[in-house]
Amino acid sequence: MRDATNHRSVPALRPLRSGHAALLHDVLSGLSRRPKRIPCKYLYDRRGSALFEMITRQPEYYLTRAESAILSRHAEEIAGAAGEGCTIVELGAGDSEKSLLLVAALRRPRAYFALDIDEAALARGAERLRRHRPELPLEGLHVDFTRVAELPPEVPRDRRLGYLAGSTIGNYEPAEACDLLRGLRRLLHEDGMLVAGVDLVKPLHLLLPAYDDAVGVTAAFNLNLLERLNRELEADFDVAQFYHRARFDATKSRIEMHAVSRRAQTVTIAEVPFTFAAGEYIHTENCHKYRLGEFNLLARAGGWEPTASWVDETQAYAVVFLRAARA
Ligand code: SAH
Ligand code: AVI
Repeated sequence: MRDATNHRSVPALRPLRSGHAALLHDVLSGLSRRPKRIPCKYLYDRRGSALFEMITRQPEYYLTRAESAILSRHAEEIAGAAGEGCTIVELGAGDSEKSLLLVAALRRPRAYFALDIDEAALARGAERLRRHRPELPLEGLHVDFTRVAELPPEVPRDRRLGYLAGSTIGNYEPAEACDLLRGLRRLLHEDGMLVAGVDLVKPLHLLLPAYDDAVGVTAAFNLNLLERLNRELEADFDVAQFYHRARFDATKSRIEMHAVSRRAQTVTIAEVPFTFAAGEYIHTENCHKYRLGEFNLLARAGGWEPTASWVDETQAYAVVFLRAARA
């Protein structure tokens, strides 16, 4: 088993299409649609991941605190459900801060594999895990988890425990989420397990500030996407001419993040001009909010059987334990 210091790309696994080419392709096609959109995975470059970590410490952003509280309070039950000797496969691990809580809860975990699209976050996470759990074999895999069909041979095949934290499942529309869950069911095999963090439906006065905090960290996180395109694709966004908007779509039960154009303007990316009317926006993220029963139905449709769930004291957030359903 490689140590995390050797965290690396995994070219054998349908890897990130050359990062730059994939970004360019997805941005050019997304900005040609109406409304304009860019996949939210591109929010996470080095700066985006650092800003996300700051978001998790904002008073308005209850999600991370609620998930951590559940992992700490129900550690014994989670450990009992997972059993001894499982291999943790975290999807979108980021800096692995909460992963420590899961690792601490589990009985004699065999190894920990962190998958993430951002190498900088993987490196920080590996460093953190190595410092706190030097005995645990671990490795970071720089991959897009929606595109990974198989894990490398060093990942034990049996007793894989997926961890999809932070309400990342909420970033996908229900049909996409179902496909993702099906893909994870294949990746984690017939004895696979999955721990998923799920943000629950709640009143708007709690929801909206979580995605539009007072000091503007979420705004910076959102608009960093445009700065990233300037840095990596030599786009010419005048970022000050866009603002961050979080709005709730009640029919879809989701927060949408938008980058809204303050005025009519043209932006050029790789010599392709994109015009924006005043008020026109780029849709940069969806964050779906579920009722627990709805999420369980989705999980079943995706090939999983929910066997336990825990909700925090404020009823804001759930952690759901899923077992691979029989094929
Ligand atoms: N699990 C952490 C981080 C959540 S932020 C937490 O709960 O706090 C979402 C993370 O998923 C980021 O680190 C981002 O880089 C990663 N991510 C998003 N889409 C991804 C994809 N398609 N493939 C791999 N990683 C992805
Ligand atoms: C998916 N997850 C990591 C966050 C969420 O709440 O949907 C991402 C985020 N977007 C804005 N703030 C936080």
